[in-house]
Amino acid sequence: MIKTAILTMSDKGYIGERKDITGPTIKNILPEDTYSLVYYKMLPDEIDKITEELVYLCDELKVNLILTNGGTGFSKRDVTPEATLQVSEKLVPGFGEAMRAASLKITPKAMLSRGISCIRNETLIINLPGSPKAATENLEVILDAIPHGIDILTGNATECATPKK
Ligand code: MTE
Repeated sequence: MIKTAILTMSDKGYIGERKDITGPTIKNILPEDTYSLVYYKMLPDEIDKITEELVYLCDELKVNLILTNGGTGFSKRDVTPEATLQVSEKLVPGFGEAMRAASLKITPKAMLSRGISCIRNETLIINLPGSPKAATENLEVILDAIPHGIDILTGNATECATPKK
């Protein structure tokens, strides 16, 4: 099972002025036989709070996957990619490339998501955009590739030769 955390970035959600729909939407997309959701939290769009939370999840709770949503756009408060970059040990550009390529077939606004993905120790962090629609469309593109990546990251797979769909 992939030990998973979901973080929703929303100033309004954090102070209780908006209900989080995207976090639960992401949870529902994750197949229960592969992903176990061990942590969920809403955070304000503040770089220090996000960074601190990411470090805790990677270094203390040792989750294997963190799916963030929100804060990837152009608003002055959007800092999720910058916080993610601060804790990154290795960048994983393929997820962003795949998500934006597929999303551009749906909407040209897909290029406005600045989300990144990275590795810190044995944790994969993936930034998704914030609306339930956008998060769903992006996550569905990469979902099948995540388990093999985590297997390699955690030393449970040593070779990629067998082609698997
Ligand atoms: N990607 C997909 N697949 N579908 C969408 O509707 N919306 C875009 C983009 N990515 C969208 C998408 C829009 S309008 C924005 S502003 C950015 O994601 C950033 O979203 P965020 O600020 O909520 O993170």
